[in-house]
Amino acid sequence: MFKSLSKCNNTEDFRLLAKSRLPSPIFHYIDGAADDEVTIRQNTKSYENCDLVPNVLSGVENIDISVEIMGKKIDMPIFCSPTALQRLFHHDGELAVGKAAQKFNTFFGVSSLGTYSLKKIAENVSTPKVFQFYFHKDRGLNNSMVEQCKAAKFDAIALTVDTITGGNRERDLKTGFTSPPRLTLASLISFATHPMWALNYFTHEKFELSQLKDYIKEGSNLAISVGDYFSSMLDQNMNWNDAEKLRSQWGGHFCLKGIMSVDDAKKAVDIGATAIMISNHGGRQLDGSRAPFDQLKEIVDAVGDKIEIICDGGIRRGTHVLKALSLGAKACSGGRFYLYALAAAGQKGVEKALNNMHSEIIRDMKLMGCKKITDLTRNNIRFRN
Ligand code: LAC
Repeated sequence: MFKSLSKCNNTEDFRLLAKSRLPSPIFHYIDGAADDEVTIRQNTKSYENCDLVPNVLSGVENIDISVEIMGKKIDMPIFCSPTALQRLFHHDGELAVGKAAQKFNTFFGVSSLGTYSLKKIAENVSTPKVFQFYFHKDRGLNNSMVEQCKAAKFDAIALTVDTITGGNRERDLKTGFTSPPRLTLASLISFATHPMWALNYFTHEKFELSQLKDYIKEGSNLAISVGDYFSSMLDQNMNWNDAEKLRSQWGGHFCLKGIMSVDDAKKAVDIGATAIMISNHGGRQLDGSRAPFDQLKEIVDAVGDKIEIICDGGIRRGTHVLKALSLGAKACSGGRFYLYALAAAGQKGVEKALNNMHSEIIRDMKLMGCKKITDLTRNNIRFRN
């Protein structure tokens, strides 16, 4: 078991450290996925279906791994996808992730189910920010989130399109995970066996879902699972018209998070979106859904010159990023790779996770003989079957 941050060289190391620090229902909420968890495994495995073909002798001492995405130049081609409930994982939550992303000048996503207000986040974090929008039945709440994004000068909104109903997350059913954790005998035992987490959680600012608290009658105490929240609070009639209206109400860079098919990618172009995130929500929604990397090529071929394509999910290594960029993604993003690190050690943890990823990308680019991201093309990738 890895007990120290300095020994965390890869995502699995952070995962083990997070596991030792978190009460088990919280760890399994991050780590788990839907049904038989086939898709979450496939999201990473898909990167092993192809190999990189390097070139050499091209003078690679100085290289540039910056990319431009959703109107911003970021200094590394992977960013922190929006994820919910971050103050459950570490008491500094979104502020820790945002400040770490800022050190690397990369995008940082904030969920509608975030645990600090957008105002507070904007006051503390200047790195590019994308807000993950969940389209609720409550139009007052939807309007208020758009206004908050405008007031806090967020750089982009990403509308989540793959949570029309809750995924079947059986680990959460088994552990009884709710947000915030319900006080049962089992959860009290879990807190007692993770005293540092419990001390921090109970002695810091009270947990809240800042964007929702004025609109959800239970305040921040949802006392239901995230899957039940999706099923009961989100608008299951959401359609392309709603997406287009939201884009125009917002007026800024607009992304659809959770696009998997060529047909939908074309519709995203038609409604004037800036970007799509090819994503299956980290395998947490439709188990059996194809991996984003496996869908990337056909989507790039269809719309790659009309919309920015972000490949999200399953990324554990710098070489995975290089493979996605070689196929034509503009950038990559991921959740668990920094969430385990957040749980393991707060801002320092996320910085280490981003630093590991940054060093791997630099090293891998040099070994590939590439000096800039546009040097990565389909010439340097081969599929095995
Ligand atoms: C999830 C949401 C909240 O649990 O993103 O997958």
